[in-house]
Amino acid sequence: MGAQARVFVTRQLPGDALDRLTAAHDVEVWPGRTPPQRDELLARAPELEGLLSMLTDTIDAELIGAAPRLRAISNYAVGVDNVDVEAATARGIPVGNTPGVLTESTADLALALMLGIARRLAEGERFVRAGEWATWEPGLMLGRDLHGATVGIVGYGRIGKAVGRRLEGFGCELLSAGRGDARERDQLLERSDFVTLHCPLTPETRGLIGDAALRRMKPTAYLINTARGPVVDTPALARALEAGEIAGAALDVTDPEPLPGDHPLLSAPNLLVVPHIASATHATRGRMAGIAVDNLLAGLAGEPMPHSVNADALARATPRAP
Ligand code: DGY
Repeated sequence: MGAQARVFVTRQLPGDALDRLTAAHDVEVWPGRTPPQRDELLARAPELEGLLSMLTDTIDAELIGAAPRLRAISNYAVGVDNVDVEAATARGIPVGNTPGVLTESTADLALALMLGIARRLAEGERFVRAGEWATWEPGLMLGRDLHGATVGIVGYGRIGKAVGRRLEGFGCELLSAGRGDARERDQLLERSDFVTLHCPLTPETRGLIGDAALRRMKPTAYLINTARGPVVDTPALARALEAGEIAGAALDVTDPEPLPGDHPLLSAPNLLVVPHIASATHATRGRMAGIAVDNLLAGLAGEPMPHSVNADALARATPRAP
């Protein structure tokens, strides 16, 4: 067995995958429910060799620069927008992520959000609990159908396609828009009854759904976000909901995140918000932990990570000897 490396894991993980890491290395697991503050990360940086980070940790060039011994970063998420991958690559550090295993759970939640907002589930529950349910009424809590609807999928990758598969069972017409094609995206926004976001957060997708995009949507349409909060311009969304420019929004992710209880967006009508739980099932979070640990163990052993976002870039930077 190789020498033990100094490893920091920024939160306790579900399941027992971390046992494999602690059996092999000198591991500190942050005990808090909330993420370690920046100074806690920086304090560990000089000795750090392996880092298992969450999407709530900012792993930027400053932190990477402060960690001269760092040789593997494993992010407990499929998204790596919290990691400066370029800075890691420049240092030859592999960055791992957890693709695939959360696809189906995330797609499940996207459908739950569509049904939840269009069939007014949270509102109905509040109504019953408040003792306001006087009788059955022909016009009580009318919503809109998902079956037969036109659904626009922005970001037609693994998760977008899994959402599409489910919607075929609902008899939906599917529209999709990939990267870069603005005309295709505008048509999708104009025609869809539901617009569901499944693109990664990049400089190109930040603020993608702002005033202009929301104004293209039908006043009867719903916006669903299980991607990343900053893909949607929050003040623009609040304004569109207030003005009735769209019928509603259902969000698993927000900007800022977490959304404070007194945030102005929460006063907007027809909004359903849950706290970034699309992958939060026992099975999926356990599988994510397994992959995150496998990635870190491989990276620390100098082997290719099973799932790394910069493997190609690293291979290009260090061509193999002939
Ligand atoms: C991810 O993995 O990127 C999700 O947002 C959290 O599971």
